[in-house]
Amino acid sequence: MPFGKATSIACSNIAFIKYWGNRDATLRLPLNNSISMNLDHATTITTVAFDAALNDDEIVIGDQKANAAQRARVVAHLDRVRALAQIETRARVHSRNTFPMGVGIASSASAFAALSLAATRAAGLDLSERELSILARQGSGSACRSIPAGFVEWQAGTSSADSYAVQLAPPSFWDLRDVIAVVSTTEKHVGSTEGHAAATSSPFLAERLKGLPARLARVRHAIAARDLATLGSAIEEDAIELHMIAMTSRPPIFYWSPGMVRVIQAVHHWRAEGLGVYFTLDAGPNVHLICEARDANAVAARACEIPDVLQVIVNAPGDAARLTEEHLF
Ligand code: DP6
Repeated sequence: MPFGKATSIACSNIAFIKYWGNRDATLRLPLNNSISMNLDHATTITTVAFDAALNDDEIVIGDQKANAAQRARVVAHLDRVRALAQIETRARVHSRNTFPMGVGIASSASAFAALSLAATRAAGLDLSERELSILARQGSGSACRSIPAGFVEWQAGTSSADSYAVQLAPPSFWDLRDVIAVVSTTEKHVGSTEGHAAATSSPFLAERLKGLPARLARVRHAIAARDLATLGSAIEEDAIELHMIAMTSRPPIFYWSPGMVRVIQAVHHWRAEGLGVYFTLDAGPNVHLICEARDANAVAARACEIPDVLQVIVNAPGDAARLTEEHLF
């Protein structure tokens, strides 16, 4: 049989230093390095089978046929895989998330990481971690960080060949938690891709880029030293800066909501009371509460007391994208 079927699982990730803005939007070459942690309870599982009997790609996400925008993006990624494998065969793709889509838990990261691994294996390719990361990046920038395990840095690089993610530390290195306080499960109104494109219209982007090398160094150091206070202050600064760029883009993009601000204010109170917890935000309404494992129950319990918080999802550092025999079809 020339082609097989393959299934893979990939974690989403939470950025400590954000990717916001591209220097090449088609190849998704970012303006800056970014650093993240994989999330073990926010995963996507994807099965891909190339089938000579198909006239067209068949894409199912959750229990539904992909909509036009999702389909175009997945087909473009399958085309990248077909070009690498030098095949033209169409594929059947089923994908399922363990978390709600489009709510700022970066579902595109786990989705394109899982799709990259499953599709290349199903096409008979065996890519290295670096090659997979480069491929995943072209589907969704943050997906390149979901290929290696644990704590990861995406090196912006100088071209497609050297813009990929590498591991800074394995998942077991630091028992951190990301307690995601879900404030909304409705689809976000402006996607990240649009946000990246708008970033260069903010008069503050240059200022952000100037300060990033020092902040990246602080975060690398904080991870190596397992120093939560240093990590926490750097990630809060970076999250606010991401939203400042979004809000000052032309036209402006607001991801903030009253519920999100109430959670951020609560974090300040909890910290003043001695709880070691820091927040970060993605391009959505939810708040990611970063703390040590020993404080995760206390953080989750307090978050659940805030009326705006619909649910919490507690994540430990997650693994690399990996194959599984549990096929979706
Ligand atoms: C705010 O990777 O979702 O989550 O490349 O267009 O798919 P595309 O964008 P995406 O952007 C992520 C933006 C972010 C910050 C981050 O994860 O670094």
